Formats: sequence, C-alpha cells, structure tokens
Amino acid sequence: MLVIIEDVLTAQELATARGWLADSIWSSGQITAGPQAALSKNNQQLPEDAPHLPALRQMVLNALNRNALFFTAALPLKILPPFFNRYTGASNVYGFHTDNAMRRQSDGNGYVRADVSATLFLSEPEEYEGGILTIADTFGDHGIKLKAGRMVVYPSSSIHEVSAVTSGERLACFMFLQSMVRDPGQRRLLYDMDMALLQLRQTVGDNAAVVHLTGTYHNLLRRWAES
Ligand code: NI
Repeated sequence: MLVIIEDVLTAQELATARGWLADSIWSSGQITAGPQAALSKNNQQLPEDAPHLPALRQMVLNALNRNALFFTAALPLKILPPFFNRYTGASNVYGFHTDNAMRRQSDGNGYVRADVSATLFLSEPEEYEGGILTIADTFGDHGIKLKAGRMVVYPSSSIHEVSAVTSGERLACFMFLQSMVRDPGQRRLLYDMDMALLQLRQTVGDNAAVVHLTGTYHNLLRRWAES
C-alpha cells in the first residue's frame, strides 16, 4: 500500500529546512546502507554530526505528530530519527534495493524493526531531471515524484530505487518506522476501514451503525496492535 500525504510541511517549514540544508556539508550516503544496498547506493547524506540535523529531525517529527493521515497509514510505534539526502552531480542514483529489516537506534536503546518507509520530498519536481522513486509491489511498479512538502509512505518490505538525477538537485528526507501493526495486509485493512469510516461520518454522521463499525475498527486494532 502506497499512501501519499500532502502538505506534511508548511511553506514556512519547507523554506526553513531548505535554508538549513543549503547551509550544510554533505557526506556519502553509504553511512546508513547495508553491504548489499551500498553496492547500488550513490548519493549524499547529512552526517550525524551535522549542526542543523537535530532541528531538521525535530521539525519533521513535529509535522508527523500533527498529521492524522500519517498516523492511520503507518500506525507508528517507534520512529527512527529521519535522515536527509541529496542527489546531484556524480552522486545521483540509488538502484533497486530493499531496506534493512532491523535498524540499530543511535541512542543505544536496541533496534527498530523497519515496517514502514517514508520519503518526504524537499525539492520541487521541476528543480531536477530524473530522481524518480520507483516502488515495486504486487500490482507493478509505481513511479513517484512529488511536490516539495509531500510524502509517500510505503512498506519497507518493497524493493525500490531512485533513478539517476541527470540535472539539478533532489533533496529529500527519508525515514523508517516500526508500526504497531507488523503485517502490511492488516495495516491496509485498518487503513481502508478508517478512511471509509471518516467518509461515512462526514456524509451520514455518527449514527448507530457508524458507531458500531468504529468499535469494530478499534477491536481489530486491539487484536493486532503491539505497543
Ligand atoms: Ni531504501
């Protein structure tokens, strides 16, 4: 299931984030790639000691916290601090790979299981050529290139790539999270049901049947969620 979330960042936040990124020194993207992914990864990433990184991370986490659609699509339990990357010049591509299942937390508090990946676009599509995020799922390949401030949420279990950026610069934020609901099929059922309920509440209101179905949604979540 791919979910696109619009306006994750406000225009003001986006401008601030881009200002901080323009003022940063980039490292090789190899720092968070496993040995297999490293073979296909050729981009740049903000290093862990980058001065603006804590504020950038906090900005994105705050934005996710206030976003109801992100919550229902991902059902986040633990979010690894977001990373920031840049594709430009000779460091411009990340071939097909899968994200590592287990990610060590930098604070020493064990591991986060990557169930859900997300990419928040920070450059406008017309600022670069190429740089399409292609995500393969059972229904085929999906090419994603979003307006700045929008995010795509997808299962970490999918194979995906970022095609070569042949001109300009592509800035993005990417992150991994452990979901309260591990199974992508169950997550999808819950998401579909929650979105249908939202629509029902807006069209017919909270009648007895809608209240009943809302109870069923929460009972499924109770059955499937870990916390
Ligand atoms: Ni990846």
